[in-house]
Amino acid sequence: MEVFEPWRLILAAVLAGFLHFQVLCTSDVAPNYTFMQEATKAPAVAYYDYIIIGGGTAGCPLAATLSQNFRVLLLERGGSPYGNQNITNLATFTNTLTDKSPTSPAQSFVSEDGVVNTRARVLGGGTCLNAGFYTHADPEFVQKAGLDLDLVNRSYRWVEKVMVFEPQLRQWQSAVRDGLLEVGVLPYNGYTFEHIYGTKVGGTIFDKDNHRHTAADLLQYANPSGLTVLLYATVHRILFKTKGQSKTAAHGVIFKDGAGNEHRAYLSKETDKGSMGEIIVSAGALGSPQLLILSGIGPAQHLKSLGIKVLLDQPWVGQGMADNPLNVIVVPSPSPVEISLAQQVGITRLGTYIEAISGIDFVRFFGLTTPTNETTPETTKSALETIERLQNAGMIGEKTIGPVSTGYLKLRNRNPDDNPMVTFNYFKEPEDLQRCINGMKIIEGVIKSKAFSNFRYPNDTVETLLNMTQNLVKNIQPQRSNASTFESLEQYCKDTVVTIWHYHGGCQVGRVVDHQYRVLGVDSLRVIDGSTFIDSPGTNPQATLMMLGRYMGIKMRNERLGRYDLD
Ligand SMILES: *[C@@H]1O[C@H](CO)[C@@H](O)[C@H](O)[C@H]1NC(C)=O
Ligand SMILES: *[C@@H]1O[C@H](CO)[C@@H](O)[C@H](O)[C@H]1NC(C)=O
Ligand SMILES: *[C@@H]1O[C@H](CO)[C@@H](O)[C@H](O)[C@H]1NC(C)=O
Ligand SMILES: *[C@@H]1O[C@H](CO)[C@@H](O)[C@H](O)[C@H]1NC(C)=O
Ligand SMILES: *[C@@H]1O[C@H](CO)[C@@H](O)[C@H](O)[C@H]1NC(C)=O
Ligand SMILES: *[C@@H]1O[C@H](CO)[C@@H](O)[C@H](O)[C@H]1NC(C)=O
Ligand SMILES: *[C@@H]1O[C@H](CO)[C@@H](O)[C@H](O)[C@H]1NC(C)=O
Repeated sequence: MEVFEPWRLILAAVLAGFLHFQVLCTSDVAPNYTFMQEATKAPAVAYYDYIIIGGGTAGCPLAATLSQNFRVLLLERGGSPYGNQNITNLATFTNTLTDKSPTSPAQSFVSEDGVVNTRARVLGGGTCLNAGFYTHADPEFVQKAGLDLDLVNRSYRWVEKVMVFEPQLRQWQSAVRDGLLEVGVLPYNGYTFEHIYGTKVGGTIFDKDNHRHTAADLLQYANPSGLTVLLYATVHRILFKTKGQSKTAAHGVIFKDGAGNEHRAYLSKETDKGSMGEIIVSAGALGSPQLLILSGIGPAQHLKSLGIKVLLDQPWVGQGMADNPLNVIVVPSPSPVEISLAQQVGITRLGTYIEAISGIDFVRFFGLTTPTNETTPETTKSALETIERLQNAGMIGEKTIGPVSTGYLKLRNRNPDDNPMVTFNYFKEPEDLQRCINGMKIIEGVIKSKAFSNFRYPNDTVETLLNMTQNLVKNIQPQRSNASTFESLEQYCKDTVVTIWHYHGGCQVGRVVDHQYRVLGVDSLRVIDGSTFIDSPGTNPQATLMMLGRYMGIKMRNERLGRYDLD
């Protein structure tokens, strides 16, 4: 055997060189993408086969895939995530999330329900801001969406190859896992991306050095000569044309660059590639319905009230908005905790998922401020004590599945930079409230479990912790009870509801788009992102959004070129 060793090495070297050569020839390396530039450098008018609006979780994989065969323009309203240390490092997760500056990658908004929330404004979208948990959709979601299972599998794997890692559970996360098992969230399924009942460890987009990888990394798959990515490009309107008897078709967009100059991009005229290209809106659950409305597709009454000419009266645009409630309990710990974001999940049969994070900057996360001389000595003392206790703490939360309760979105004005008004109607339906209560009881069980005992002060009862958390969460719901002391789980769920940032709806499948994500009633326009969802897929949507971008890229390519292969 030893005799063959040098030959194997040479063969391996030749092969590695060949593969390296292949990769360099066909792709750019992040972050030095040659195809990425600020929109100020774009020409006033340009033509492409596909125009994608929104370089987020779904838009990046879609653009990378279509660029292999077509000329693609990807328009992103924010900047690049590369070089921003807040985004790159796990430990500064809360820095980005709470950055409220006008150019922050995290645009904050407050729903009409009074719950503070965030939308991504950066290339890579929510993958630049989130807690990184990577897990597949539940089988029911895939079945209801009518997706091709083989292509779903391949598309997930395409994502996993470049940006998904196995997390290393340390002391605090391990105690939560063992606590979940102790209270009966069984079986233990180990490390898996599959959505199955029980407790499991999922994937993460943070690597072993705790550096974040984002959907922008999927642009490494792009064909550099087929793709143009423009940053700080805000689309104001989609342009339509009506020719003869045929349906109205999307054929271009108007966007402004960072200096406020206007540009237009149009779909190329018919080419050797057969039919016309398309415009794809991947601007997220707030941005996509907003842009359809700005372009004249939406409820006629609402369009008229904004002074927008009605192109298509579509009452469902902006309907079915939903945000999965998150309710948490914060637990100060007597033993040191690691800095960790979501690494595992309890998938229960009670309509609730349990996740946990530890060691983050909770003071910043909850927006606590150091007391001033305006407050009384007693409140100052108690506030300082709480801040002290949060220095070494963890937080266990439950996400209500679905949810059943939904709301709607309307625009305040015609400014595409402004947040729309959105109402989620948290816990309007009793089923959601019951699921939250079920989840809180499981968390109570974990906190009281033997496995978790090193991470809770023995003198802190669950009621003390509920009371403390209730005073930390500062949403501004008008219906919020003003009691500062814990009363009941039902009241607690309502009063301390926050977001897990998995809001969806507004352009739902079957209502605004068909099962191929084509906008009903017009040609050459699709919406591909979380706004099409009826329910949030699996426990966390990012894997499925990236899968969907890849999946639809392959579907659209095959449709246009008459191909059948799935890679
Ligand atoms: C990207 O470009 C910068 C500046 O030219 C260089 O320092 C860096 O090494 C490059 N990164 C990669 C991954 O090639
Ligand atoms: C990092 O976060 C801090 C706190 O939110 C903010 O002040 C700073 O500007 C951020 N840095 C970057 C590069 O965004
Ligand atoms: C998809 O992958 C899972 C495992 O990752 C496997 O169980 C399933 O059979 C696959 N489905 C198809 C249609 O390939
Ligand atoms: C608190 O301090 C500010 C500035 O130092 C001062 O103007 C204000 O009068 C003080 N308020 C009280 C209640 O002492
Ligand atoms: C429990 O003990 C810790 C550590 O001494 C203390 O900070 C905390 O306030 C105590 N909790 C209660 C409810 O007294
Ligand atoms: C709580 O207090 C606020 C402000 O004082 C008030 O507007 C609101 O109606 C109160 N909520 C309840 C449920 O009493
Ligand atoms: C609940 O918390 C509030 C504010 O920190 C405090 O005033 C109150 O005494 C606490 N109640 C209980 C039962 O711990």
